[in-house]
Amino acid sequence: METSLAPRHVAVIMDGNGRWAEKRGLSRINGHIAGAENVPKVANILFAAGVEIVTLYAFSKENFARPQAEVEGIFQRVKAFALSFTERPQVNARVYFTGEEEGLPADLVAACRAAERATKSNGDKALNILLNYGGRSEILRAARLLCGEPVTEESFRSKLLFPDLPDPDLIIRTGGEKRLSGFMLFQSAYSELYFCNALFPDFGVREINSALADYRSRERRFGGIKTP
Ligand code: FPP
Repeated sequence: METSLAPRHVAVIMDGNGRWAEKRGLSRINGHIAGAENVPKVANILFAAGVEIVTLYAFSKENFARPQAEVEGIFQRVKAFALSFTERPQVNARVYFTGEEEGLPADLVAACRAAERATKSNGDKALNILLNYGGRSEILRAARLLCGEPVTEESFRSKLLFPDLPDPDLIIRTGGEKRLSGFMLFQSAYSELYFCNALFPDFGVREINSALADYRSRERRFGGIKTP
């Protein structure tokens, strides 16, 4: 597989699980089960393509507005995925679960922390799962933490939820919608955006290769001009 010029950090907004299930006459939770099964596959395809960091949007703070059974179903899948890192890992990477702990079930948080501990010495790849995350709330939290202190881009970044990871080079949203939905609002300033119609459970090697090929065709100028 092509590994040259791979984006260093790819972030995916995993949309379309619900519609995938509804199309099949299944309940929405079956869509999240299928989505969760696709998570290690997507991470492994991206890592094999030379990507170093994969961030996945698993649950936004706003997703608490969904019916309780759906929220619990998503949490169950995330917990099972976290536990797999202490039992039978499907992905060889350092794993991080990033977001606000408050509001999450204690057993889910414990499984996430155990996965982080179990993988902390793993090689050169990182898998960052955003859980109970919201970009606006992350920015407000940083502002509150800095209250009364000098605010520079550096000091502000240091108060964000994952200050050690570089900004995403490429953000992919599956499911056909074209918006960021509060995803990495500070870090996405110069990210390349790619929207694809595939619903997340159908997002596979073909769709990922198209996204990476599209990324390679982009000219990134970071506000500058084309260099001769
Ligand atoms: C958005 O699709 C998806 C979510 C809110 C949940 C994403 C969760 C998973 C992929 C499974 C668990 C995660 C891990 C890391 C194991 P939607 O349900 O809003 O889709 P729709 O727009 O078709 O309704």
